[in-house]
Amino acid sequence: MREIEPYKIKMVEPIRLVPRAEREAGLREAGFNVFQLPAASVYIDLLTDSGTGSMSQDQWAGIMRGDESYAGSGSFYRLRDTVREIFGYEHVIPTHQGRAAEHVLFAAAVHPGQIVPNNMHFDTTRAHVEHRKAEARDLVVEEAYDTSCESPFKGDIDVEALDRLLSAERHRVPLVMVTITNNSAGGQPVCMENIRETAAVCRKHRVPLFFDAARFAENSFFVKMREAGYADRTIVEIARETFEYGDGATMSAKKDGLVNIGGFVALRDGGLAERIRQHLILYEGFPTYGGMAGRDMEALAIGLHESTREDYLASRIGQIRFLCNTLHDAGVPVLRPAGGHAVYLDARRFAPHIPPAEFPAQALVCELYVEAGIRVVEVGSLMFGKSKESPRLELVRMAVPRRVYTNDHLMYVAEAVIKLYKRRNSIRGMRIVHEAPVLRHFTARLEPV
Ligand code: F0G
Repeated sequence: MREIEPYKIKMVEPIRLVPRAEREAGLREAGFNVFQLPAASVYIDLLTDSGTGSMSQDQWAGIMRGDESYAGSGSFYRLRDTVREIFGYEHVIPTHQGRAAEHVLFAAAVHPGQIVPNNMHFDTTRAHVEHRKAEARDLVVEEAYDTSCESPFKGDIDVEALDRLLSAERHRVPLVMVTITNNSAGGQPVCMENIRETAAVCRKHRVPLFFDAARFAENSFFVKMREAGYADRTIVEIARETFEYGDGATMSAKKDGLVNIGGFVALRDGGLAERIRQHLILYEGFPTYGGMAGRDMEALAIGLHESTREDYLASRIGQIRFLCNTLHDAGVPVLRPAGGHAVYLDARRFAPHIPPAEFPAQALVCELYVEAGIRVVEVGSLMFGKSKESPRLELVRMAVPRRVYTNDHLMYVAEAVIKLYKRRNSIRGMRIVHEAPVLRHFTARLEPV
């Protein structure tokens, strides 16, 4: 049976393709940085899957039921109980989004000179570790760097490397993080066996294990599909087992929470939770709302249940696979196998004539906008080039918002990318003319070489 969307469309939002000359002028004005484009000049927006999803009628109904009490909001208790049910952690601390969860956790737990290992940090997580004057160290398995290798769990952490690091430097490691799914390495999943082994190493060295759980439901779906022994388990059962191996999680609810804003920290340790709440009150808000409105907590409690529905995940991940396979079959160099939330172009193989110093992935991002009004994002040397380790992957990420686009939209994207690939030799590199000291990719201005 085809994996079709388990919903129909009740409200539509018009989109418009602005003329090519306007796209060219707009991009120049934006400093060849698509973060600076007004959304109205974008036709298909694959910049991110974060906060861009559609809410369901139940979530919109929840918005109307939201309890805006400053203290003890009923919406908070519903969110807390849902998180306890799916994550199994006692303490639930709401924040305005994922990076705020990172902020309050790291402010309480990470100190200057320390090292935070992760399978792979995403940009904001890395920036928050570095903001604490600590080192963010990526320990992903080697296959993650081979974009054509078809291994089923390329998001895994290298457990032996983690064990070596902890044997040598345990005193410098406040916590270990595992990002599910591994966004920077292509939305690739982490298998349960790897999580179990990681937990055993953490236990041996007495270091807490935290998950960056932004896409935990998609990760759980891959475990069910690809890992022996999980075919008959529900997504919630798989998520529960995942979190059981750890001590806590940070969550950007803008992804698998199916809401437009929100996040939380969830954890077991009451003492650490208390220290986090002190930072929460200073930077986010009172502990029963943190950084969220009551209505947003209500919608999130519902969204967490919806994102763990198997029919929804089958259609969502089927859509990503459809775009990935269509491009792959046409010979376009895409990261394989398809991940959970996005399709990634390998810019080094797509445009080998552009030297690494000239931001080949950013050049593709700009060309795709001019070609077809499609906005995507660079995940390569513009995003990560300033950290000590220079990035080993040069990717263009086409992130698919949840429950927003049809496969016809994605076919339009595929045709535009294939057309661009056919004229790839005409694409020129870029150089930076202005950059900020942190997270430069959001505001940098560039020009073609
Ligand atoms: N962790 C991961 C794995 C993420 O992908 C993100 C955000 C965050 C943490 C931070 O969460 O945005 O709610 O503050 N990723 C978005 C993206 C921005 O486009 O992939 P946030």
